[in-house]
Amino acid sequence: MKKSKIAGIGYYVPDNIYTNEDLTKFMDTSDEWITERTGIKERRYADRLDETTTDMGVKAAKTAIERAGTTAQDIDFIIFATLSPDYYFPGCAVLVQRELKMKEVGALDIRNQCSGFVYALSIADQFIKTGMYKNILIIGSEKHSFALDYSTRGRSISVIFGDGAGAVVMQPTDKKEQGILSTHLHSDGEEAEKLAMIYPGSAAGKGLENRPNWPDQELGGLLMTPEMLEDGSAYPYMDGQAVFKKAVVKFPEVIHEALSENNLKTTDIDLLIPHQANLRISQFVQRSLKLRDDQVFNNIQKYGNTTAASIPIALCEAWEQGKIKEGDLICLAAFGAGFTWGSALLYW
Ligand code: UT7
Repeated sequence: MKKSKIAGIGYYVPDNIYTNEDLTKFMDTSDEWITERTGIKERRYADRLDETTTDMGVKAAKTAIERAGTTAQDIDFIIFATLSPDYYFPGCAVLVQRELKMKEVGALDIRNQCSGFVYALSIADQFIKTGMYKNILIIGSEKHSFALDYSTRGRSISVIFGDGAGAVVMQPTDKKEQGILSTHLHSDGEEAEKLAMIYPGSAAGKGLENRPNWPDQELGGLLMTPEMLEDGSAYPYMDGQAVFKKAVVKFPEVIHEALSENNLKTTDIDLLIPHQANLRISQFVQRSLKLRDDQVFNNIQKYGNTTAASIPIALCEAWEQGKIKEGDLICLAAFGAGFTWGSALLYW
């Protein structure tokens, strides 16, 4: 059976840089707090009006397609991972199909937040192994900045996230030391609301009758009410400490799972690219796996947490910096909302 390999990779981040200092204009925060708790120094924000999640994804995709030595017309399946889509529906993958004038190929959006890219990679891997597709485009892209609460009320979430996109093209390979060895996907919905954006959603009615001015009518009217914006419940919610505690357990666990499945050890890893959630989480994972500094790649300092885009952006940057060579053993690992988490082990 053929394996799948990353044949081309690209990323795009907007030009607009917002430093920690810049954020102090909008909220009560400080460079010291953000640096100490997250390691982040700056992040990029897409153009507020004119640049969408799909626009950024398309830019990353064009680079990945070109580097794979293929064309948009050769892509036979598209997977788009995002939690900040252009529209509530349809998803972004069809917008990419339209924008890149692709054939009428299958287009899938997946909603697995921070682990979206690892889930997408796993799906693509299965399709390529079975021979169903030969050129799969995966995009992870996020425009967080359009929807966050940039007042002091939202500071514990909004300082963390940044915008950007990464993309890969997956193709089959016969080479022994090349391509994906295995992927490992997990979830635990027990704490689904610990990191969530509840509205708009069909659960909107729950508890709404306790609010003043709720739309008391026989049908409908629950998409978004002014109260949801006013009281902040329309914004993403995160119990940061609960997420942190679970992440530092699940990251090492799922990396060990991938290594043991392939009879490999932590010392065999040439480069670990963890989802860029928080530099403190990456450092904790590095210590618990006893990895050297040169075995772990972090770029959250420059981009913040870009959710589904963080792994492909980091992978691409590491590759462009010459930190990944042919035959290197690369481990990708992610944890995020859901909770969902996963890992992938591959030879470059
Ligand atoms: O990729 C998605 C997965 N997400 C994650 O992996 C995030 C995991 N969690 C974290 O990274 C951390 O929990 C945070 C960085 C989000 C927050 O750090 P923390 O150490 O858990 O802080 P906290 O939320 O417990 O807040 C501590 C204090 C509070 O003040 P008091 O109550 O002690 O007076 C907050 O109000 O820090 C305050 N605070 C801030 N101060 C300045 C919260 N956010 C800020 C801020 N600037 N931006």
